[in-house]
Parts: sequence; structure tokens; C-alpha cells
Amino acid sequence: MKVLVIGANGVTATHVIKQLAESDHDPVAMIRDPLHREKFDKLGVPTVLADLEYPIDHAVRGCDAIIFAAGSGGKTGKDKTVLIDHIGAIRSMVAAQVNNVQRYIMLSSINNDINSQSPIAHYHRAKAHADNFLIETDLDYTIVCPGRLTDDAGSGLVAVTERLSGSGMTSRENVALTLVACLDNHNTIGKAFSLLEGDTTVNEALHAL
Ligand SMILES: NC(=O)c1ccc[n+]([C@@H]2O[C@H](COP(=O)([O-])OP(=O)(O)OC[C@H]3O[C@@H](n4cnc5c(N)ncnc54)[C@H](OP(=O)(O)O)[C@@H]3O)[C@@H](O)[C@H]2O)c1
Repeated sequence: MKVLVIGANGVTATHVIKQLAESDHDPVAMIRDPLHREKFDKLGVPTVLADLEYPIDHAVRGCDAIIFAAGSGGKTGKDKTVLIDHIGAIRSMVAAQVNNVQRYIMLSSINNDINSQSPIAHYHRAKAHADNFLIETDLDYTIVCPGRLTDDAGSGLVAVTERLSGSGMTSRENVALTLVACLDNHNTIGKAFSLLEGDTTVNEALHAL
């Protein structure tokens, strides 16, 4: 499948791009800064320039699937969380619908909740609003909700459950492995699940959902 990776220059998404480049799928890296092109040129991965604060139909058109791994990050204001994690995410879902990109895989977060009272409630609320929109679409969606992200090497071993609250950590590399594995695990369609470090291989964990 031709897979658009949104937020491709991010740490998790870069793992996704590298894994896709070694798979049967064809990644396209959506970036917002032309200076980031060189990194993907070296990987032999095509890029498209697009910003989630503006229309992205040109990036989405012609793709078979989207992996959304963008985010405003913890260093921007709450306004950017709404503009990117909430409204920007929904913009990409609408673009997927309008341009017939049926498969949509969302990197979300554990503890997302529209009524969150957490210390980062603005973030958890934004992610929940975006996820709820996705669930209401007719897209073939999967929502992956990891715990706190680490830069540890990916063990390939995870714990997956449809309970979306809890605590724990997940390596960005394991998140990437899971996002990519969802493309080939059709039983993940229409499901949302939390993802923590565990002792089950990614494929086994996804099959058991
Ligand atoms: N941190 C955690 O503990 C945690 C826990 C659970 C879930 N998550 C989720 O996991 C996601 C990925 O985490 P990460 O650490 O890999 O992220 P990251 O390295 O911060 O990457 C985020 C990417 O989003 C891109 N982006 C930001 N605004 C954009 C816009 N307007 N248009 C297009 N792209 C935009 C950034 O582009 P530039 O490279 O141009 O800046 C960046 O490449 C987070 O965004 C969060 O939603 C995080």
C-alpha cells in the first residue's frame, strides 16, 4: 500500500518510515519543512510538503492508507494542541474521506478522554475529540494508544488491551512496529487499544484483539 505518514519527521514517525521502507509498503513522508527533505531523500522515501493547519488534500490524494503520528508536542501552547492534535487530525480524516483513502491508523494516547482532568487535560481532551471523530467516520480505522513514550530500543514485545486508561511506558520503536503491523492485521480495523511494554510479540498481541 502507498502509505502517507503524517508528522514523518517526528521521532516515532521516523521509525515508521524506516520500517515501511523495508516492507512491502511504499511510504510517503509528509513534512512541513523543506529542510527535512534531505533526511528522506537519503532513505529513498518520497516526501510531500503539507501542514496540518492548512488543507492537505494534495498530500493525501492517491494514497491507500494514512498513519497519523504528528503532534504539537509539549513545548507549544494549548492553542497548537487544539489546532494540530484535534482540528488538524480531523482535517486529515476529512481529507482521507474526500480522497477515498480508506485505511487510517491513528497514533493516539492512553488516558485520552474528552472530560480529562489530568495535568495535560488539554492534550488528552484534544486526542479524545479527534479519536471520537474518527470512530464516527466510515474509514477503516485503528486507534493505537501508547503509554509514556521512551527512546529505548524496541523490544518487539508489547501488552495490548482494549482498556484505554492506565499507566506505563512504550518505546517509540515498539509504537512504530505496531502502527506498521496494523496495516497487515485487518482484525485491528474498527478497534482502539492501549499499548504498553509487555511480553507478547506485536503480531500475536494484535491477532488476539
Ligand atoms: N510523548 C509521549 O509520552 C506520548 C505518549 C502517548 C502518545 N503520544 C503521541 O505520540 C505522538 C508522536 O510522538 P513523538 O515523540 O514521536 O513526536 P515528535 O517527535 O514530537 O513528532 C511530532 C511531529 O509532528 C509534526 N507536526 C507538528 N505540527 C505539525 C503540523 N502543523 N503539520 C504537520 N506536522 C506537524 C512535527 O513536525 P516538525 O518535525 O516539522 O516539527 C513532528 O515531526 C505525539 O504527537 C503524541 O500525540 C506521545
